[in-house]
Amino acid sequence: MSFNTFGLMFRVTTFGESHGPAIGCVIDGCPPGLEISPQEIKEELERRATGRSRHTSQRREQDDVQIVSGWFDGRATGTPIALLIENTDARSRDYEQIKRQFRPGHADYTYWKKYGIRDYRGGGRSSARETTMRVAAGALARKWLRLEFGVEIQGWLAQLGPLRTDEVMDWDSIEGNPFFCPHPGMVPKLEEFMDALRKSGDSVGARVNVIARNVPAGLGAPVYGKLDADLASAMMSINAAKGVEIGAGFASVSQQGTEHRDEMTKEGFLTNHAGGILGGISSGQDVVVSTAFKPTSSLRLPCRGLDIDGEEVEIVTKGRHDPCVGIRATPIVEAMMALVLMDHVLRHRAQSG
Ligand SMILES: Cc1cc2nc3c(=O)[nH]c(=O)nc-3n(C[C@H](O)[C@H](O)[C@H](O)COP(=O)(O)O)c2cc1C
Repeated sequence: MSFNTFGLMFRVTTFGESHGPAIGCVIDGCPPGLEISPQEIKEELERRATGRSRHTSQRREQDDVQIVSGWFDGRATGTPIALLIENTDARSRDYEQIKRQFRPGHADYTYWKKYGIRDYRGGGRSSARETTMRVAAGALARKWLRLEFGVEIQGWLAQLGPLRTDEVMDWDSIEGNPFFCPHPGMVPKLEEFMDALRKSGDSVGARVNVIARNVPAGLGAPVYGKLDADLASAMMSINAAKGVEIGAGFASVSQQGTEHRDEMTKEGFLTNHAGGILGGISSGQDVVVSTAFKPTSSLRLPCRGLDIDGEEVEIVTKGRHDPCVGIRATPIVEAMMALVLMDHVLRHRAQSG
C-alpha cells in the first residue's frame, strides 16, 4: 500500500529521492515494437530541466537516461522497461539546517507524521526531482500516441502570479522562451517580474494549461474510470498542484446552459466548454486541462515554524529553489496528459478491441 505506481495498463512505477544516488522508473505494459532512444527521452527531459534560465533552480543535472531493461535493437520488447538517471548535482549540506525543522508549506511535517523518518535532503521523495521520471515515461507514451493516432500534446504557461500570459496564443513561440509562454509580448514582463521576485526572496504561483489534439473519441469509462477524473487525479499528483479544471472548469459556475452546451453540427462541435470529455468519455474534441500551482514554500525569508520536538523555531531555507514552480511544470503536465491518454487507449482496447 505505498502507491508509487501510476496507471492500470500502461503502468509506471517511479523510485528514488532528490539526493539519493539515482532516480528511475519501471514501465510495464508498453506495446512491443515502439522505437525509442535515450536521446529522444533526453530531449523531453531537457525541457523540464533546472538551470535552463536564471528563473529556475540552478541545480544542474545531466539527466543522462539509461534504458536498462525491456529494450533491444532500439525498440521496446514488451517486457518491463526500466529507466535510470543518476543524481549528480545534489548539495545536501544546504539542508542541514532544516534537518530537524518542518518547512511551512512543504511536505516535511506530513512525511514525519506519517513515517516517523524523513530524508530531509532536498525534500527526499517529495522533491519534484521525481517528476523527471514522469517526463521520461511520458516521452514513450507521447511518441506512441503520436504514431498511433497523431495525438499532439502541447502545454503552456497561462498565468504567472498576477500576469495573464495567454491572451495572445502564438503556438510557435511557446518553445522559444524559458517560461513556455505563448504570448511573446509577455516574456520581457515575466523576466522583469521574476527578477524582482527573486531579489525579494519570495515566490509565486502559476497556472499551466495543456491541450491534446487528435484524441480519438471513446477513451474513458463510466463511472469510476472517467477520463476527466483520471486527468484531474494525474495533475493533482504533481507536486504543488492545488487545482485542476477541465474545459471551462470553474467558469462553468457562472455560465448558463445555453452557453456551456457545445452545440453539434455536421461540421463538428461549435464550442468546447466540455474540454473534450462528456460522461467521462473523450468526444474527439481537443482535451483541455488547466492546473494551478502554488508558490514555492522553500524561502530564504524567515518564518515561524516547528521543529521535531514541537518547539517554535525561526525557519530559513537555503539551497537552490524554483521561485515559481509553474515555470518548469509545462513538460510535466504534458507528460501526465500523455500517460493518462495512453493508459486509457490500452484500457479501451482491452474492453472494446
Ligand atoms: C517543477 C517543480 C519544481 C519544484 N521546485 C521546488 C523547489 O525548488 N523548492 C520547493 O520547496 N518546492 C518545489 N516544488 C514543490 C514541492 O515539491 C512541493 O510543494 C512539496 O513536495 C509539497 O507538496 P505539495 O505542495 O503538493 O503539498 C516544485 C514543484 C514542481 C512541480
